[in-house]
Amino acid sequence: MVEEDKFRNKNKIVIAIDGFSSTGKSTIAKQLAKRLNYIYVDTGAMYRAVTYFALDNNLIGEDFFHSEALIENLDAINITFKFNEDLGFAEVYLNEQNIEKAIRTLKVSRYVSLVSTISEVRQKLVEQQQIMGKDKGIVMDGRDIGTVVFPEAELKVFMTATAETRAQRRYKELLERGHNLSYDEVLENVTTRDRIDSTREDSPLIKAKDAIEIDNSDLTIEEQLKTLLKLARDLA
Ligand code: DC
Repeated sequence: MVEEDKFRNKNKIVIAIDGFSSTGKSTIAKQLAKRLNYIYVDTGAMYRAVTYFALDNNLIGEDFFHSEALIENLDAINITFKFNEDLGFAEVYLNEQNIEKAIRTLKVSRYVSLVSTISEVRQKLVEQQQIMGKDKGIVMDGRDIGTVVFPEAELKVFMTATAETRAQRRYKELLERGHNLSYDEVLENVTTRDRIDSTREDSPLIKAKDAIEIDNSDLTIEEQLKTLLKLARDLA
């Protein structure tokens, strides 16, 4: 019996992965879920989907944010994930429209932290996230998973890396996807989001007391995966 199969027979747990922007949470969470045969949920994609909706409906822009109108329209936002066999992960949909690529732009990144400060938005998304994880066997990444969404999660991880390392990674990723922008713009976005995400009133990004901190500035993906797989297997 291979190791994965043995694991499948055991108790399923909830794995919460939180941390700053561009710490590689989703890369590692996605692979971890695959190895454990767990569901993976990228909660950042959900906040990005709401931001995409706000931009698309002219509710947010350079010098305005009609937050009341966004709150009034929250019922018109239906976010779902559909597994894409070819890609090997679930893509995000807004009202049946695939927006997986459209939410990864610097434009959405610029406004998403502001949209995420709205309590009504958080309430709606947290509720949906809790339903998705009710049967456990889930790896969820975000900012408030170990503190608010699943405070009882069996395994909590808090990922960090220097702002420069994170900006460099994100810059490379965006260039590879054909976006035209400078490293400085990306660094500015990363540090601004860090500040807004950690200082907002509702569910700020903080390390849960019982979270294991991993600084991955000098770690390969394989090294991180090995550490997390061991932690998960010891707990399940
Ligand atoms: O993980 P990401 O960079 O795609 O997240 C985008 C933004 O969404 C992030 O800057 C803050 C917000 N977010 C949040 O407030 N709570 C979460 N659980 C996940 C993301």
